[in-house]
Amino acid sequence: MPASPFDHAPDRWSHHSFKWNRYRGRDVLPLWVADMDFPAPPPVLEALQGYLNHGVLGYVLPDEYEPGRAAVCGWLSRRHGWSVQPDWIVWVPGVVPAFHAACRACCAPGDKVLVQVPNYPPLLSAPHHNHLERLDVPTVRVRDRWTLDFDALERLAADPRCRLFLQCSPMNPCGSVLGEAELDRVAEICLRHGVLLCSDEIHCDLVLDPGARHVPATRLPHLAEHSLTLMAASKTFNIAGLGAAFAVIPDETLRRRFRHAMAGIVPWVNVLGLIATEAALTRCDGWLADLLAYLRGNRDWLCAELNRLPGLSVLPPEATFLAWVDASGLRSADVQQRFEAAGVGPSAGRDFGWPAFARVNFGCPRSTLEEAVTRLARSLA
Ligand SMILES: Cc1ncc(COP(=O)(O)O)c(C=O)c1O
Repeated sequence: MPASPFDHAPDRWSHHSFKWNRYRGRDVLPLWVADMDFPAPPPVLEALQGYLNHGVLGYVLPDEYEPGRAAVCGWLSRRHGWSVQPDWIVWVPGVVPAFHAACRACCAPGDKVLVQVPNYPPLLSAPHHNHLERLDVPTVRVRDRWTLDFDALERLAADPRCRLFLQCSPMNPCGSVLGEAELDRVAEICLRHGVLLCSDEIHCDLVLDPGARHVPATRLPHLAEHSLTLMAASKTFNIAGLGAAFAVIPDETLRRRFRHAMAGIVPWVNVLGLIATEAALTRCDGWLADLLAYLRGNRDWLCAELNRLPGLSVLPPEATFLAWVDASGLRSADVQQRFEAAGVGPSAGRDFGWPAFARVNFGCPRSTLEEAVTRLARSLA
């Protein structure tokens, strides 16, 4: 394999990294939380440096930062074939606060919210934090791919107290991209039962499978008035620490309710997050193409190697830099402990709702994955 700039990653110990701090002082490779070990794209860093050179860091109202909205509209049109009006965009300092706001905007206390399981832990806990009841939509394996249990979705959505579906596509941790036919089915079920759709699409620009294509849920004409879509440049361009994301909400009433749910509690997106997002969405297409090629190589190599190890199996994810590893074959009461004892630190499957699994982050140089596989092979032999 020819050398790639992604073969090297800066040391993160000195930078208070959440991912690396967890195992400080222990010989465990951190392959957990969903950020990558690569530097952000050079045009993003140049844009940030250019802004900092001015020196004044006063308030900037995100809605008045026109280049930001223009960048989002341009990106959605160019990459997703989706024509979005600038005033549909609501800046938020993270996708997590945004789906909490969606719970408040769409539901009254005691209502019920559909969430796929397994799922990103803050999505699993969002209903409870907003005094709502969670209805679990199971995940099923169909023709070597993870997807929703649509029969269960249909049955649960029929509950008269069910108001909202918190969807995650591409799926974290399972890595599937909901295709157009699947989204049509989701839309049909939601519309039939008066359930609003909040679609967390934070991983949508990390599609690795040439056969998969991301379709923003709100792009579907029949869902436009009944859904909100949450996105960010944060995962794709590795700028999660800057706290910038956006919701796309075509329906004016829903948008007003969403803004109201955040009023006075959720701060404005900070200016550096806006600057970085704008640069990422306008000047980094080449960097992203290279990143996707590298991640695809990591995915293929890692999944092939893990599938050779006793007790482990994994379906290559269609998107994301996260591999959802089935460790049930280890017959271990504590899968996380078993991995950590081997010197590898994934995200614990139990936090996502499936304790026999582990989520391995492959957004790192290939050499880190090679070391992880060597350690696992030695420990599981
Ligand atoms: C599905 C999903 N939603 C949201 C987030 C976090 O979003 P933010 O950092 O913008 O709050 C993550 C991070 O891993 C994620 O995987």
